[in-house]
Amino acid sequence: MYKSLLRPLLFRFDPEAIHNFSYTAIKTGLKAPLSDKLSQKLFCLQDARLERKLFGLSFPNPVGLAAGFDKNAQLVDEMARFGFGFLEIGTVTPRPQPGNDQPRLFRLPQDGALLNRMGFNNQGVEVAAARLKRRTSNIIIGGNIGKNKNTPNEEALRDYEYCFDHLYDVVDYFVVNVSSPNTPDLRALQDKEPLRFLLQALQQRNASKIKAKPLLLKIAPDLNEEQLKDIVEIAVETKLDGIIATNTTISREGLKTTVASLDKMGNGGISGKPLGARATEVIRYLRRNLPESIRIIGVGGIMNAEDALEKLAAGADLVQLYTGFIYEGPALIKQINKKILEGKLSKQ
Ligand SMILES: Cc1cc2nc3c(=O)[nH]c(=O)nc-3n(C[C@H](O)[C@H](O)[C@H](O)COP(=O)(O)O)c2cc1C
Repeated sequence: MYKSLLRPLLFRFDPEAIHNFSYTAIKTGLKAPLSDKLSQKLFCLQDARLERKLFGLSFPNPVGLAAGFDKNAQLVDEMARFGFGFLEIGTVTPRPQPGNDQPRLFRLPQDGALLNRMGFNNQGVEVAAARLKRRTSNIIIGGNIGKNKNTPNEEALRDYEYCFDHLYDVVDYFVVNVSSPNTPDLRALQDKEPLRFLLQALQQRNASKIKAKPLLLKIAPDLNEEQLKDIVEIAVETKLDGIIATNTTISREGLKTTVASLDKMGNGGISGKPLGARATEVIRYLRRNLPESIRIIGVGGIMNAEDALEKLAAGADLVQLYTGFIYEGPALIKQINKKILEGKLSKQ
């Protein structure tokens, strides 16, 4: 129903306006009487064979919502009802910031893709933390943290630490985001020395807490092999719990959308189908080169169940999606979990 009725209607309007409208629609729709039972039946699949134990956490299934959809933790209780095994909020920054000027989100329907240059628009970590404190569902939550646009890279650690401290009590794992293409110079923090410095310091802070939380790094798909090698080295050295591969790409290769249309849209990161193969390649590289103890969350271009299986087969322990949710609707999560049960990837 989503693809045949709802999507053609929604796709007629500005993508960001629809995104905001969908928030309200989801919130209101799921308050309706019997909606709880209905969403359980339509979207959820509970089966012990889907469970994944990693980072000392028990994920009821391996399909999560990627960062960026619920930046401000406004929809946690609602998204939990679409059958996800976990949700990632953020990216949050210490201070609220408006992000880049609109329009900053575009659809590329011929490519099954989105282009965004949101620029970490968010209400600030304290607002997100307060909302998470009030949540009623017990779904696993990842906190994706970043730095404010006007914080120079030399002072970035302070921003990450601020977010880490403010989310510490309300999230189950952390993601250090240094891979968004839409905050100027952010990706320079993926370079060997700044990355080592940042992760070492965050792990020290983590160790000073009563109980350390799993710390993951989210990387770009545009890194070359040399850079991926450095990432592996630092992940081992700083004892990361996992890597999330990948964020959106700045590559425009192989797109069906015309160059003229792309030029009109301007800068930004591409997500969805065109990203799929590269994200899988990065996952495969990481799995071959990381020790087993460092886990991988695979994300990028999961538009159907087969795409998710491909990521798992390449070595991902869990998967996440964003653009697939926009194009295919909430039924996709159950479809993926069903396919995992049918395939060889469920627990024996
Ligand atoms: C509109 C939009 C906003 C996003 N915002 C964030 C963000 O704030 N932090 C982050 O780590 N990733 C962000 N992402 C990247 C996604 O989490 C994901 O890594 C990427 O879109 C690839 O997955 P997909 O092909 O399933 O969309 C965003 C993606 C989109 C489309």
